[in-house]
Amino acid sequence: MNKAKRAAIIAGNWKMNMTPSAAKEAVAKTAELVKDADCGVVLCVPFVDIAVAAEAAKGTNVKIGAQNVHFKESGAYTGECSAAMLLEVGAEYVIIGHSERRQYFGETDETVNLRTKAALAAGLKVILCLGEVLEERQAGITAEIVSMQTKLDLAGISAEDLKNVIIAYEPVWAIGTGLTATPEQAEEVCAIIRSVVAGLYGQAAADAMTIQYGGSMNDGNAKELLSKENVDGGLIGGASLVPEKFAVIVSAAR
Ligand code: PGA
Repeated sequence: MNKAKRAAIIAGNWKMNMTPSAAKEAVAKTAELVKDADCGVVLCVPFVDIAVAAEAAKGTNVKIGAQNVHFKESGAYTGECSAAMLLEVGAEYVIIGHSERRQYFGETDETVNLRTKAALAAGLKVILCLGEVLEERQAGITAEIVSMQTKLDLAGISAEDLKNVIIAYEPVWAIGTGLTATPEQAEEVCAIIRSVVAGLYGQAAADAMTIQYGGSMNDGNAKELLSKENVDGGLIGGASLVPEKFAVIVSAAR
């Protein structure tokens, strides 16, 4: 059993919710509720919330993350933020390759890879999201899709840098839909991703990697999902907006 040796991490993805004043309150409330957490706790917030969220999280066990980062250090990239900018306002983590970025904002495995490399080079920890869409699951190619994404998204990333990467397996059909993968489905695909990582970096690196499940994880289903050998944590959307619900998920992680 390698699960016990890996870091369990529960991360919230607020998406485009919470103004800075609401963020300040929600971080403070969450931090109070999770102060005895037996796992890592991260809240990934909108760019404009990062500074106040980091301030509110100071001295607590909650870490703050962003939801995207550009791969260039600076320049004419309207609407984007660099890794250095995120670090300076207090982000320690960044979500990269979320399915909503892939679906609505033209994110590809190539740009996910570039963003991941830039984030790691600057010293951010990356929550790298991947997962199949419904048609791919129905066609029976989930394993092929997540294997391909894992290989493309991690291309050129060193074994040393890999230590700062968490992979979030998020079946796109389960995100925000109320449809959750069964614990068996989550376990099966997280294990496939781990075996691909083992093929690329060796078994020890794969055994050490935190792999999360995301997609309608909530206070009711978290315990069962998180009990699976290869599910080391969760990436939580909707339920992370309600501190009480998020805290129940955190307490379900060892
Ligand atoms: P959800 O979102 O929990 O609302 O399904 C998960 C995610 O998008 O990371």
